[in-house]
Amino acid sequence: MTAPSTTRVMKPDAAAIAEAVRCLAAGGLVAFPTETVYGLGADATNGAAVARLYAAKGRPRFNPLISHVADLAAARGLADFNADAMRLAESFWPGPLTLVAPKAAGCPVSELATAGLDTIAVRVPRHAVAQDILAGLRRPVVAPSANRSGHISPTTAAHVLADLGGRVDLIVDGGATLVGVESTIVGCLAEPTVLRAGGVPREAIEQVLGRRLAAAPDEDDAPLAPGMLASHYAPRTPLRLNARHVERGEVLLAFGSKLPGGAANATQVLNLSARGDLIEAATNLFSHLRALDAAGAKTIAAMPVPHDGLGEAINDRLARAAAPRSTPLAQ
Ligand code: TXA
Ligand code: MG
Repeated sequence: MTAPSTTRVMKPDAAAIAEAVRCLAAGGLVAFPTETVYGLGADATNGAAVARLYAAKGRPRFNPLISHVADLAAARGLADFNADAMRLAESFWPGPLTLVAPKAAGCPVSELATAGLDTIAVRVPRHAVAQDILAGLRRPVVAPSANRSGHISPTTAAHVLADLGGRVDLIVDGGATLVGVESTIVGCLAEPTVLRAGGVPREAIEQVLGRRLAAAPDEDDAPLAPGMLASHYAPRTPLRLNARHVERGEVLLAFGSKLPGGAANATQVLNLSARGDLIEAATNLFSHLRALDAAGAKTIAAMPVPHDGLGEAINDRLARAAAPRSTPLAQ
């Protein structure tokens, strides 16, 4: 299969699911909704398809991918889960949680997808479209966020088309995604560790495990999730964190009902959640960032967001969006 030049967009009916399965089985690239963000799928067992996926995203090949499967039974064919991993899988799957565990003997996922590591990231998504595609294909599907490497993750089919139109075969349009930030990644090797904050809050994971989670090592020393180095989710417009005053020429990414001083200076204001709801804020995060980026302002001023619940993931993505753009590694 050569690189696609036209990208079909289909509503998520039975014909679209059948076409997505056919296309993936033939080594093609299919973007589809999960409950977190849109993923760009390829057959994880087909090295050539995985190579095409890295090329379409412009993603460095040493940044491994998450393998998606329909259920825990299929996940256990890919990875060896310890007791903690099993408890987390049973509590949060299907859902916005990814587990990193040792690769199982006979794991059929291509070496390219795991970047040669002896561990693998596995997720069982909840979204009905993702579930139907995985159940139809009956093979693991690698699916990074369906954006060009380093860009903001897509929460609508229109975002995917803007970033990857002409580079993928099919986009299944299932509407806006619910959670809005990517899955939480938990490493289950020795002590369980949060490698990436995401759609399952740390507190919920700690409650299931009955103990506090080990702090992730400083990512500059040893990035356990190789894709998690500084600059990601990057808008072109510089982003200013913890804005308590808006300067002339800025746009405002607001949170809560009380706007900061100088808010009248903002040429545009988008509120993550006027009622201060972190779940609503996560849903709106990436689409608001994209919209404010398109305004052509000198800076996006972002108000502070509380750090509890989904706030940890929101603050992580905002910090990455504000980071200098020198890091070559991006997802
Ligand atoms: O919500 C999500 O997780 C979305 C949807 C589409 O499922 N996917 C997603 O994939 O965010 P991606 O490729 O954008 O991010 C995957 C992250 C990267 O930071 C990568 O380095 C890390 O998972 N990762 C993959 N395999 C790993 C492994 N064996 N050990 C540690 N980190 C790993
Ligand atoms: Mg990504």
